[in-house]
Parts: sequence; C-alpha cells; structure tokens
Amino acid sequence: MLSRTAGPSKAAVARAAVLPAATLSTTAPLTTSPSISPSSIRTFATVQDGTPKRTYGGLKDQDRIFQNLYSRYPPDLKHAKKMGDWHKTKEIILKGHDWIINEVKASGLRGRGGAGFPSGLKWSFMNFKDWDKDTKPRYLVVNADEGEPGTCKDREIMRKDPHKLVEGCLVAGRAMNASAAYIYIRGEFIEEARVLQNAINEAYADGLIGKNACGSGYDFDVFVHRGAGAYVCGEETSLIESLEGKPGKPRLKPPFPAAVGVFGCPSTVANVETVSVAPTICRRGGSWFASFGRERNQGTKLFCISGHVNNPATVEEEMSISMRELIEKHCGGVRGGWDNLLAVIPGGSSTPILPKHICDDQTMDFDGLKDSQSGLGTAAVIVMDKSADVVRSIARLSHFYSHESCGQCTPCREGSKWTEQIMARFQNGMGKEREIDMLQELTKQVEGHTICALGEAFAWPIQGLIRHFRPELEARMQKFAQETGGEALAGGWTHDTRSKGKLISPGQ
Ligand SMILES: Cc1cc2nc3c(=O)[nH]c(=O)nc-3n(C[C@H](O)[C@H](O)[C@H](O)COP(=O)(O)O)c2cc1C
Ligand code: SF4
Repeated sequence: MLSRTAGPSKAAVARAAVLPAATLSTTAPLTTSPSISPSSIRTFATVQDGTPKRTYGGLKDQDRIFQNLYSRYPPDLKHAKKMGDWHKTKEIILKGHDWIINEVKASGLRGRGGAGFPSGLKWSFMNFKDWDKDTKPRYLVVNADEGEPGTCKDREIMRKDPHKLVEGCLVAGRAMNASAAYIYIRGEFIEEARVLQNAINEAYADGLIGKNACGSGYDFDVFVHRGAGAYVCGEETSLIESLEGKPGKPRLKPPFPAAVGVFGCPSTVANVETVSVAPTICRRGGSWFASFGRERNQGTKLFCISGHVNNPATVEEEMSISMRELIEKHCGGVRGGWDNLLAVIPGGSSTPILPKHICDDQTMDFDGLKDSQSGLGTAAVIVMDKSADVVRSIARLSHFYSHESCGQCTPCREGSKWTEQIMARFQNGMGKEREIDMLQELTKQVEGHTICALGEAFAWPIQGLIRHFRPELEARMQKFAQETGGEALAGGWTHDTRSKGKLISPGQ
C-alpha cells in the first residue's frame, strides 16, 4: 500500500521531469522553491495557455433552418417539401413526447420571444403528474403578435416559410400532448395571415394535420386567430385573454398557463420562431443545434437589423456572433462606416441602448448582452449613426410604451405617462440636472412592481440612456439655459414663468 512517505507522487514526478536538474529537491515542495516561480512551472501539456478562442458567425447555407427567408420559392407545400419540411414528421410524432422534449432540451433552445426561457423545460411543464387523467383539452398557443418595435422576423417566417410553423405546431403540440394550436397573429399582418391560412389548408388537404396527422394516429388541429394590434397582447397571459374574446389585460401569475391557460385548459404560449425550429431540431438532432453558439446560448437565430445600416436585413446567423460582424457582413456596415456609429439598441426597443465603445466588442447572445447590462430580447438590432438624436429616440419609445400600457398597475399606468412627459421635456433640455436622478429612481421603482414586463420595457431604455448618455442630457439642459437666459425650473417651466405669473400652485 502506498503511504504519503513512500515516495514522490506521480504528479510530482511529472512536474520534476520538466525542471532543470539543479532545482530538484526532495524536501522542498516545488511550488514553494525560491528559485521557481509558479508561472515558470510548465508541463508538456501546457504548450499554450487555455483553449483556443472559438469564433462564432459565418453560418453556412446548409445549416440555415429558414431556407426561404428571401422568397426564392413560393411559400407552398410543394416547395416546402423540396426544402425538407414535412420530412419524416410521422416518425418524429411516433417517437412521442419524451423523445421530442429531450431533443429540444439537448438542443439548448431558449425561447425566441424575448425572455429566453429554456424551451424544452417550459414545454415539459404541460406533462405534469397525471396529465393523461385530465379530460380537458390542451393547447399550444403560438405568439405571432410581434409587436416589439424593431422586430420583423416572425412575419418573415409566416410570409415566406409558413410550413415551418405549421409543422412546428404539430411537433411542439405533440411534445405537449396538445390537441390543437391557436396561432394568435397581429391583426395588421393581413398578407401573413393569408399565406399562413393557405399553408394550413394545404396541410389539412395533404393529411399532414387534422385527424390522424401524417398517418401517425395523432389528431391535431391548427387555427389562426387575428388580434387587433395591441402591443400588450403579445404578453402571454394578455394574449390568452384576448384569444378568449376579452380585453387584452395580463393576468397575475400563478396560476401559470400550463395549469390554467386558454379557456381554463392547460396551455403553453411559444413564439413563432421557437416553434418553427422544432422540426429541424428533431430531424437533425439536438446536438446539431447545440453545436452553434456559446454554452447556454446555443443555436442559430434570426436577427433583424434596422436603422442606419446600408442594407437593413433579417438574417439567420449563429448565436454569439459579434455585433460588428453581424452588421458589416449582412447589412453592408453602418452608414458612413463603423466609426460613424453612435449607439445600438440590440434586442428590440425594450432592451437598454449600448454606446459604440461597447458595441465594438459585443457578443450577440443572451449572456453576452446581459453582461453589458442589456439583453438579446427579440434580437432586433436598431443601429443609430452619429446623425441620430438619441434622446429623441428614447423619448419616442417612452411615448409608445405610455400609449400601450393596459392601465391595470399604478406604477406602469402612471409611471409610463410621467416618463413620457419627462422625456418630452428632456429632449428639449427643459429640466434640472437633479431631475435626471429622479427619473432614474422612478424607473427603478417600477421595475419588478408590475403584473407584466411592460413595466420593465419602458423603464430599461431610459436607464440605458442615463447610464451611457447622461452628459448628452446635461448638455441639452445647459444649452436650454443659455438660449433662454436661465435654467428651466423643476417640472420644465422656464426660469421666468413665475415672474410672468404663469406658475401657480395646484388647486389655485
Ligand atoms: C408587453 C409584452 C409584449 C410581448 N410581446 C411578445 C410578442 O409580440 N411576441 C412574442 O413571441 N412574445 C412576446 N412577449 C413575450 C411573451 O410573454 C412570452 O414570453 C413568449 O411568447 C414566450 O415564447 P417563447 O418561450 O417561445 O419565448 C411579450 C411580453 C411582454 C411583457
Ligand atoms: S405592467 Fe402595464 S401593461 Fe402590464 S399589466 Fe401592468 S399596467 Fe398592464
């Protein structure tokens, strides 16, 4: 039996083998020898420090899930089948819910609707204990509301690649043991709804959905429901209310939709892109999808890039691609070159804005953007060059959120109105510098104190503006003071309002 004193350990022998003979000592531990610094101890295995840095991006055409994003073919069943849709769907359905959910879990897919919750886990909540003894119907609800400003990916899927979504409904629906899918589509998407309905009709006629879908023995229906175009109806519980024919006002959770969803039945709401990638994940394997992007951020992703770029585009790329490569490779770069960049809103209007120096080295994935105090959201990249008025842009978003608040929660109803009014003043420099801190505090009071995330959606863009562009806000206030002969009073009144007798106390 080896004892501690029997001789040097294997590791010590290995270490000693790479040291000069003069430094060898049997008494002193190698790392504490005065003649050897820890950094000079190298083994044959340490030819280079750390693993080589993997770069992301450069997705090959054969790895693109959405093959018809640029309308190369008509969006019909014949061409969809040619591109690989509905291939072996019957086999996938016959493998059952556990197999599908395990593949989706292995793929690392995170919800593409904004929150990035792991999809496999979320879908598995539908198969709770004794779910099969529950006689109620069960629903997959597809969120095709796409109201987040800057986002234009789901409509592209529905208009150009609708069979990906219809097949996705069947596969995701099977994973949840759902009997039907409701696709809740934004009312303005008239063309998208028409193309999608055609695809559904084709799938019914071909026996791919409906009774005995794909000949698998599984019955599954797909319905399109057109909304009336309110942003808040994209929130999952508000969407459910609207689907039930009620005003779109978010519900308090719990209960979560998997327990009490549409018409009181177990339901899961999932984004169009999330659902549409499920069949390809099952066909090519979860590990194939997981081979793209960084750990916890796997897969391919649709990015919608708009604003001051030479060629705005919606493009499928590998997750974790750098922001600069995404913009330069697919959109012809920033108008006037990269150095003309001012800022980017990286994930749809509710994610905090990032100034150029952060964008220079930004990884486009959930964790990378979280580390930069922003978010991937819907991956709607809004680019602003130096001609943009960043304060006015955020003020415009404040107006949007104030308009879209459903009014149920006081912090959101009142807070979004106040921030709208304050931002309208700040845009023109009308305010006191200490009001910037008051505005920041106001947004912090809203965060986490509302029924749905619309509270955060209007608070975060303002926090991002203050974090990165505070000098711009202050400069406007100073300019206003210079031009009008005095600093604006708190509340936005001009410095001479009081002397002109225009400023009166409330109630007078
Ligand atoms: C105010 C608000 C609006 C939203 N709008 C949308 C939307 O238009 N489309 C969408 O997919 N998710 C939207 N969401 C997120 C949904 O509530 C939900 O998280 C998502 O549809 C889940 O799908 P996923 O798991 O595939 O990401 C919104 C959330 C909030 C708070
Ligand atoms: S946060 Fe705003 S939009 Fe959401 S439920 Fe409350 S008031 Fe309505």
